[in-house]
Amino acid sequence: MKRYTVPSAQGIDSLTLAEADTPRPGRGQALVRMRAASLNYRDLMIVRGGYARGGVPPGLVPLSDGAGEVVEVGESVTRVRPGDRVAGIFMQSWIGGEIGPDHHASALGGAIDGVLAEYVLFDADGLVHIPEALSYEEAATLPCAAVTAWNALFAQGPVLPGQTVLTLGTGGVSMFAVQFAHAAGARVIVTSSSQDKLDQALALGAAEGIDYRAEPEWQDAVQRLTGGRGVDHVIELGGAGTLARSIHAARIGGSVHMIGVITGAAEIDPMPIMRRGLTVRGVFVGSREMFEAMNRAIAYHDLHPVIDRIFPFADAAAAYRHLESQAHVGKVVIRVD
Ligand SMILES: NC(=O)c1ccc[n+]([C@@H]2O[C@H](COP(=O)([O-])OP(=O)(O)OC[C@H]3O[C@@H](n4cnc5c(N)ncnc54)[C@H](OP(=O)(O)O)[C@@H]3O)[C@@H](O)[C@H]2O)c1
Repeated sequence: MKRYTVPSAQGIDSLTLAEADTPRPGRGQALVRMRAASLNYRDLMIVRGGYARGGVPPGLVPLSDGAGEVVEVGESVTRVRPGDRVAGIFMQSWIGGEIGPDHHASALGGAIDGVLAEYVLFDADGLVHIPEALSYEEAATLPCAAVTAWNALFAQGPVLPGQTVLTLGTGGVSMFAVQFAHAAGARVIVTSSSQDKLDQALALGAAEGIDYRAEPEWQDAVQRLTGGRGVDHVIELGGAGTLARSIHAARIGGSVHMIGVITGAAEIDPMPIMRRGLTVRGVFVGSREMFEAMNRAIAYHDLHPVIDRIFPFADAAAAYRHLESQAHVGKVVIRVD
């Protein structure tokens, strides 16, 4: 079988396509013929060598997110059967409950080998069935970006109908946040670098858009749109370049869900958080239970992930470059054919 590796994380050109033996499932394992994989901002950080302290294992198979078909199962596997359509969960050992100290060590495409391969061996417990109405390409976008948006919006102090959610940019996590919050009856405000991208977010269910290039003090625009109250929830994806503004866009007593660092890691001024009585909550993807709850909502509301472009397996580097260009809206997918 063919698979990609990152022998040394020195940029997109270090992605290497190579032959490897197709693994066989042992006890408790399932072999999946991958059909599609998708990219996250994290995958750019990994290939550039800027993700984890101490780096990722040399020769890592990249990407956390993929979907495919079970082709063989090992002894004692009952969760899945050959022919089942499945996706891997981001942290293979985080089944339910709160995130724990051991879960990070099971993150696909980072701590352990990921899914940019024709065949991948999973623990059967690390798989979920994908919604029937989704294609493999659509389902491949769910494990990281969608589960993260779901966790932020619903896992603690859930978004309620009539509340207002602010989400930043039109990348993968943000477009899932638009779809999920809209389905939950919330009003969604989205920021973006371009009116064209904002129009796509509005078509998905966002109520208002703010061009943050035309309006650099966009937190003031958020306050205006909410009659000076501020939003109930901020999906904070920018880090250094956005966090202080996100804090001022939230209502007194609101929540800022800390997810991303697109513009670098931020230092936080504690004063406005304290004076505004904000809840600032770190979100790191989510558990299998969250993934399964999200899949039920996707099926019920007939939601379909926003796919910007699909690249062939042989051209994985072009998919990385497209994500890097930030020209996309939603997800960038690689078809494993
Ligand atoms: N904590 C977690 O578990 C978790 C999970 C997934 C992702 N993340 C993080 O969340 C962030 C987003 O990830 P992603 O995969 O959704 O990224 P992505 O698809 O690559 O989206 C990036 C988008 O961010 C927008 N952007 C860039 N600069 C911005 C700015 N100054 N203000 C607002 N938006 C800006 C751009 O959209 P526009 O052109 O529309 O502005 C860009 O296309 C990343 O930092 C990633 O590492 C964290």
